[in-house]
Amino acid sequence: MIDFTQYSLADFYDIADLDMLQRAKAFHEYLKDIHKNHHTHYRRVSLSGSGPTMRVADPYTGKEKEMIYMASNDYLNLTKHPKTIEAGKKALEKYGSGAGSVPLLGGTLDIHIALEKKVAAFKGCESAIIYTNGFGSNVGSISALLREGDVAVLDMLVHASIIDGCKGTHVEHFRHNNMKSLEKVLQKCQKKYRTKMVIIDGVYSMDGDICKLDKIVEIAHHYGAYVMVDEAHATGVIGQKGRGTPEYFNIEGKVDIVAGTFSKALGTVGGFVAGRKEIIEYLQYYSRPYMFSTAQTPQTAASLIEAMNIIENEPVLRKNLWDNIRYFRKNLLSLGFNLGNSETAIFPIIIGDDVKVRELCRELHEADIYVNAVQYPAVSRRLSRIRMSLMCNHTRQHLDTVLNALEHLGKKYNIMKASKGETADIA
Ligand SMILES: Cc1ncc(COP(=O)(O)O)c(C=O)c1O
Repeated sequence: MIDFTQYSLADFYDIADLDMLQRAKAFHEYLKDIHKNHHTHYRRVSLSGSGPTMRVADPYTGKEKEMIYMASNDYLNLTKHPKTIEAGKKALEKYGSGAGSVPLLGGTLDIHIALEKKVAAFKGCESAIIYTNGFGSNVGSISALLREGDVAVLDMLVHASIIDGCKGTHVEHFRHNNMKSLEKVLQKCQKKYRTKMVIIDGVYSMDGDICKLDKIVEIAHHYGAYVMVDEAHATGVIGQKGRGTPEYFNIEGKVDIVAGTFSKALGTVGGFVAGRKEIIEYLQYYSRPYMFSTAQTPQTAASLIEAMNIIENEPVLRKNLWDNIRYFRKNLLSLGFNLGNSETAIFPIIIGDDVKVRELCRELHEADIYVNAVQYPAVSRRLSRIRMSLMCNHTRQHLDTVLNALEHLGKKYNIMKASKGETADIA
């Protein structure tokens, strides 16, 4: 048995002298120790799907239990909206359960074209391409657009899929949301590379803060760089009409590439890239996860079109979400928790101690509250945290139950103001 308090996931990434099976076995021992201590906060099995509460198979007792679900990206709970479900059912009956081929070779259905047009219009762009997952969408589009002589200029907190997409090109980082640092990096890159592309998240997935997109576009264009924004956690959540970060900053049409996932507020799965028609057309023929992977299922495409209609026609869902965000935020801050720079539906409580984070998750699990543990190496050790996210249909009673539990545990573990409002940064 390996004492879990002494190790993290990073320790099993590579171990000198151990082959892959020996390494997997060492990791298995580590997981066994975590489980014995009720610190397994990953892969808890849901029996009811995403909602403000969720039936879960308790990994420790083997029994079912109802939990307040504070970890969904399904911000508007469109996974369960009667209209998205109905649209999916109809498409399933009309087209069958799959598209049958890759998009270039027979897998493009008319409902995919309708989805492409809907996404382009929703994002205020000329054209859009659809992928079957958001991760592949970023990897596939960036790797097709940026080659060896180019450079990706990344905010240091961008999503893993963006980092993986940049493996065939040069990469430079700038300090998180820091415009001076961005400018410095762009100055350095200006003459050195052919294509320069600044890539940022609209809303950062572990911190819940919003990128300074208006300033980023201004600075990037000044230095001849393109801008790509990943709208995974912004779509449906920010902007007057839920269209995301460009709408929030009133710069729709000025961002070169607007990417995102269908898996968060849109409630299904998949990804998109929207922009100029020539760029989108190029991706159709050069983006490997698009060309060599079977097209989106018809029922997903139909549910997605309906999801965007709902975002446009039912603003009350977004209003309820924001009422919840304001209420939860005000109360967490008044209890003295460190929420970093969070300003959206994503709430990190920064603790800076991996074992404490897992203990807290254990206690919350026992109190029937489902939160996520985010620890090293996903974030640096001094910024390990529990991460919660809100939905539009969490009730005040749900939120008060969570706030009461956190108040009690915050005192027990002495984690109020654990670190002083800092988020990750490079030296
Ligand atoms: C910012 C960001 N981009 C991309 C992805 C990948 O999206 P998907 O889960 O749809 O593959 C995620 C999420 O998980 C994300 O948070």
